[in-house]
Amino acid sequence: MAFEFDLTQTDHLLTTTRAVRKRLDLTRPVPRELIAECLNLAIQAPTGGNTQRWRFVVVDDPEKKAALADMYRQGWKPYLESSKKTREQQGLDPETRVSDSADYLADHLHEVPAMLVPCLLDRGEGAGYWGSIVPALWSFMLAARSRGLGTAYTTIHLFKENEAAELLGIPETVSQAALIPIGYYTGDDFKPAKRRPVEEITYWNGWKQTDPAN
Ligand SMILES: Cc1cc2nc3c(=O)[nH]c(=O)nc-3n(C[C@H](O)[C@H](O)[C@H](O)COP(=O)(O)O)c2cc1C
Repeated sequence: MAFEFDLTQTDHLLTTTRAVRKRLDLTRPVPRELIAECLNLAIQAPTGGNTQRWRFVVVDDPEKKAALADMYRQGWKPYLESSKKTREQQGLDPETRVSDSADYLADHLHEVPAMLVPCLLDRGEGAGYWGSIVPALWSFMLAARSRGLGTAYTTIHLFKENEAAELLGIPETVSQAALIPIGYYTGDDFKPAKRRPVEEITYWNGWKQTDPAN
């Protein structure tokens, strides 16, 4: 008989793994072994051709975290201003809950217990290239969440990718994919997020062909 999952548990994990920013516990250290445990699960993720051309740089050195947080902030402020302007032009409220929470993360990033900078050997682009690291990142975030750790997928520090590479000794031939802050989360649990209904965004056998049964 096939193994049976506890869907209450797995569905809860899949629907409540949020970008954790304000609820990161900045005072409680995260053991290296726990991060390694999550990475060990993450590397079961698929890669194109099973090439596994990934490396994971974990940063828990306070000075290096501070330097990376500075780089992040240098990218964050101009990004925030330009996205506010775009929202205004679209007639939308420039202040969103995400920007408030993301602002908090930018301000406190140096205080997070650890950061993960996932890397790909070789410089590349396209679906096959980035698709060979992103599944592992999401697996890492799921593994972390199920162990009481909060994470957030971030990419803003990549505006300063070269400086970050220099700081961490990452060779020019290697790409950084993200910077994932890691910390225990505070509070109890998380809720599923609001998303556009799946029936509206799923097409069957052709573009824009939604299921008439819905
Ligand atoms: C490719 C990618 C890049 C992202 N970059 C950032 C970032 O630089 N800073 C940040 O605070 N959040 C970043 N996020 C997190 C998103 O803002 C977040 O996932 C989204 O608002 C949905 O929230 P949820 O994950 O809690 O459902 C990024 C997410 C993805 C997938």
